[in-house]
Amino acid sequence: MAFDPEAVRAFEYMRWQEAASVYETTFASATKPFIAPLLNAAAVAPGMRVLDIACGPGFVASAAVTRGSVARGLDFSPAMLAVAKAREPEATFDTGDAESLPYADAIFDAVVANFGVHHVPRPHLALREAHRVLRPGGRVAFSFWAEPCDNIAWKLVFDAVVRHGDRAAARTPSPGGGFGTSAQCAEALREAGFDDCVAELVGATWSHLDAESLVTALRTGTARMAAMLDAQNHDALCAITADIAENAEHCRDGKYLAVPIAAVIASGVKG
Ligand SMILES: C[S@@+](CC[C@H](N)C(=O)[O-])C[C@H]1O[C@@H](n2cnc3c(N)ncnc32)[C@H](O)[C@@H]1O
Repeated sequence: MAFDPEAVRAFEYMRWQEAASVYETTFASATKPFIAPLLNAAAVAPGMRVLDIACGPGFVASAAVTRGSVARGLDFSPAMLAVAKAREPEATFDTGDAESLPYADAIFDAVVANFGVHHVPRPHLALREAHRVLRPGGRVAFSFWAEPCDNIAWKLVFDAVVRHGDRAAARTPSPGGGFGTSAQCAEALREAGFDDCVAELVGATWSHLDAESLVTALRTGTARMAAMLDAQNHDALCAITADIAENAEHCRDGKYLAVPIAAVIASGVKG
């Protein structure tokens, strides 16, 4: 399928609108552990004007408020923004697209995106926009899921789908581009005009009572992963869940499966 940015945007929009009401209780437990390292990478400190791109329910903006910053969140999903506004009255939230930010040049001290940039049809446009709205000397940081060899929850799912289902079953629009490795994340920042670009691998644990809970979190709180799982037939999905249960057993910590997850956090500075 040829890359069609509007098809990607429409697909993502539909999925995030649907996910908004359950995101906090399903997938957010996977993204929250990376908020503090993300804000650290952007050197977010009291008094700074911080933009949280693809903010979803606004957890990163909230954490920036807690650090004493003046936080603004932006997302294209009105359903996500409704949750954000109800959760965090001390931040400002705007509707907008990450490829074309509705802000003047150089008005933020830091720009962050927690698992947002790779959902945008053309991530390089989002990074260029981040560069435009940052003041000189300001820092950018974004997180991106690490490759499955480091990101075990994803590996468990992808391996199980390959064994029992069809990874291409969803027929989702071709993505505009993610980032495979830490080096690619840093390179994308360099190409967007940033200096001193670095990318680090950060690990965390995603706890679930069982494999079903993990699969449900991914089916209700994500976009492409959810579409892939939704597209499996009933028998395949049962086999996939059983496979994950068997192979996640080595992660068991008492009552819970404590599954390792990992993200790349890339950051840079506007010269
Ligand atoms: C995985 S969620 C991340 C939410 C949040 N940042 C967090 O830390 O959990 C991805 C978010 O990207 C938003 N998004 C996807 N494409 C977008 C675009 N083109 N412009 C703005 N937001 C977008 C979605 O609406 C969704 O809220």
